[in-house]
Amino acid sequence: MPLPKINSSEEAIKLEDQHGAHNYHPLPAVLSRGEGVHVWDVEGNKYYDFLSAYSAVNQGHCHPKIVGAMHEQASKLALTSRAFHNDILGAYEKYATEYFGFDKLLPMNTGAEAVETAIKIARKWAYERKGVKETEAEIVVCANNFHGRTTTVISFSNDENARRNFGPYTPGFTKIPYNDIDALEATLEKNPNIAGFLVEPIQGEAGVFTPSDDYMMRAKEVCSKHNVLFMADEIQTGIARTGGLLAVCGHCTCEGHCERQETYTKPDILILGKALSGGNYPVSAVLADNEVMDVIQPGQHGSTFGGNPVAAAVAVAALDVVKDENLIQNARKLGKLFRRLMDDYIKESNIVNLVRGRGLLNAIVINDSEDSSTAWDICMALKENGLLAKPTHGNIIRFAPPLVMNEEQLRDCVDIIIKTLKQFEK
Ligand SMILES: Cc1ncc(COP(=O)(O)O)c(C=O)c1O
Repeated sequence: MPLPKINSSEEAIKLEDQHGAHNYHPLPAVLSRGEGVHVWDVEGNKYYDFLSAYSAVNQGHCHPKIVGAMHEQASKLALTSRAFHNDILGAYEKYATEYFGFDKLLPMNTGAEAVETAIKIARKWAYERKGVKETEAEIVVCANNFHGRTTTVISFSNDENARRNFGPYTPGFTKIPYNDIDALEATLEKNPNIAGFLVEPIQGEAGVFTPSDDYMMRAKEVCSKHNVLFMADEIQTGIARTGGLLAVCGHCTCEGHCERQETYTKPDILILGKALSGGNYPVSAVLADNEVMDVIQPGQHGSTFGGNPVAAAVAVAALDVVKDENLIQNARKLGKLFRRLMDDYIKESNIVNLVRGRGLLNAIVINDSEDSSTAWDICMALKENGLLAKPTHGNIIRFAPPLVMNEEQLRDCVDIIIKTLKQFEK
């Protein structure tokens, strides 16, 4: 049956509204094409993409190398399930584990699944290696976290909208304030049953909440001292987004993978998704060394699609692009420029309080009450001016363009943002 031809944004929105569940509240932009840092809507209007599918499209839309790898693999062999081996999974696992510096990788599809996987590994490790009595393991998480939408993951969220009426909730999680080493230390000191500390190096969904520079390093030290696994959710922050290969090693001055070991905080469990495929395909992964990963044995975890040949080919190409095109260095350079230009504007602005972030994961905080619609209205005006961004929690707008942006484009985007913000000055 032929699909109905979409002639306008309005028609497409109406179809979604009538036939799709109402689980999102998108900006009314109906996109039909993307290339590099740009997307086009069905009317042919061109926009800068300043969200990058929540930091999945770090390598830019439809990157030819990634799309090429996907086409080539899809036309040869797309899916075997893990009932059989395929000839690319092992090569991908070797490549990715060397790339990030771990012994082993467990492939999954979405970010939330990878978080679930990490939780299962940590619990099993606690029972089999740490000696915690079965069913008593706890995972420490942070207030205002965002780790996905599954039943277990929302069980430890404090976003009421994400939780309400979805209980009963999964037990076994202890919440502490973010960016508070004393709270972590006190919690681990008190409870010998803690398996892991699950943390975002920057809280993206919460509004690009950027912790103090030594938080990750000190959290890892505290975890090591108490034999607790340090679990970094780098689904949004990882793979060059924040100006380091990972955000946990984003503060040092290394170019690329960190060589200054003293500032490199290696997680015990690393959780990746989104940009692992450059946004072309759902690919996620959990990485750990043997001592941790080897607790998982046949039949104990898996997914029909996890580690499929297309995912493996796409991930290798996506990681290659990050290195070949120096996206870490570019994110770092353009991120600094972005915050400097925004800071210059903010000094004279009464509509924006501050800009914060690292690399090209940034946000502005609107000078208005938390629950006003100003951030939404600004995003609507940005759209009219040719740039797509989305409010996040509170009155905050996240800015996360593809990392293949050049300086001229970034300056153009800052001009659009400032011009738009000026329309809202009081
Ligand atoms: C830090 C973090 N963890 C987990 C997730 C969930 O990933 P997915 O939407 O692919 O399930 C996200 C998605 O935004 C995220 O930002």
